Amino acid sequence: MTAPIHLSDFEEYAAASLPRMVYDYYAGGAHDEITLRKNREAYQRLELHYRVLRDVADRNLETELLGQTLSMPVFIAPTAFHQLANEEGEVATARAVARAGTVMGLSTLSTRSIEDVGAAAQGRLWFQLYVYKDREATLELIARAEAAGAKALLLTVDAQVWGIRERDVRNQFQLPPGLRMVNLATSGKSEFPEAGGSGLAAYVNTMFDPSLSWSDLEWLCSSTKLPVLIKGVVRGDDAAIAMEHGAAGVVVSNHGGRQLDTSPAPITVLPAVVEGVAGRGIVLIDGGIRRGTDVVKAVALGADAVAIGRPVLWGLATGGEDGVVRVLEMIRTEVDLAMALCGARTVDEVTEDLVG
Ligand code: GLV
Repeated sequence: MTAPIHLSDFEEYAAASLPRMVYDYYAGGAHDEITLRKNREAYQRLELHYRVLRDVADRNLETELLGQTLSMPVFIAPTAFHQLANEEGEVATARAVARAGTVMGLSTLSTRSIEDVGAAAQGRLWFQLYVYKDREATLELIARAEAAGAKALLLTVDAQVWGIRERDVRNQFQLPPGLRMVNLATSGKSEFPEAGGSGLAAYVNTMFDPSLSWSDLEWLCSSTKLPVLIKGVVRGDDAAIAMEHGAAGVVVSNHGGRQLDTSPAPITVLPAVVEGVAGRGIVLIDGGIRRGTDVVKAVALGADAVAIGRPVLWGLATGGEDGVVRVLEMIRTEVDLAMALCGARTVDEVTEDLVG
């Protein structure tokens, strides 16, 4: 294999080195993986109607989110269990994010502690939260995230019950000995229960709170000083309700096609969500973004920034911290090129008319 030249190449490298159970866990989606495929195809269907002769000699990709400057409108989506990909795990990812000047979402289900990751991320950290039936355990996670320097909470709302990822069922997905969800150790929830099928599904369906509803969002917002972003929204009306209940914004996402199969690709519902938010907060998006042109399309349709998940895991598996930096720099180069060829010098100049 030659050196990776675009994001998807990293997947091939990672697939060659990771155990099958791990590769399938990262790569897989729910049921027939229709949404997983759609997430990607929806970007490929959109065209960029580029502008010409706009003097694009000087370009600036910086963007501001929640008072923090990101070096580009791309950040790292929260994904679980980074030590399955690299022994430094989320700490390596965090170091990479600090080097690249963007932000990382740290999963509740991380294999390194919030404190260690917070120190490595140097303030470039948002904490992804799952709400447990055990509210004390949930509040402890929030307090630790705040103390570790997280700048926002990403409340995942599309996973109150776990999607069936058939690859994980077949592989009887388990964490290898020595790995656990360290942040849940104090509340005795750091390991999967004994179960056939996916150990993670058994864990989630026992621990997470399926009764979570909009009224809990007010409880959550009053339990933290951090802005709360609602992750997993695909409808304009839900986006509007989120804003009415105190959210600072939403993430348009279907959990990387891992929850409800045949749900829509985020990019196709982005305009409706932007309308629902109606300028009251920020709008982020993830799912299927592999090219700089995808980033430009999402920003043009109203996203303030986009997140990439799996490519970061592939970079981590391939080259640890440096591998993640390479992934981030590769997408940066592509975003810069796509903006230049669209006649946009700044993120603000990436406007809706560019997409057809
Ligand atoms: C974790 O959030 C997963 O989707 O497996």
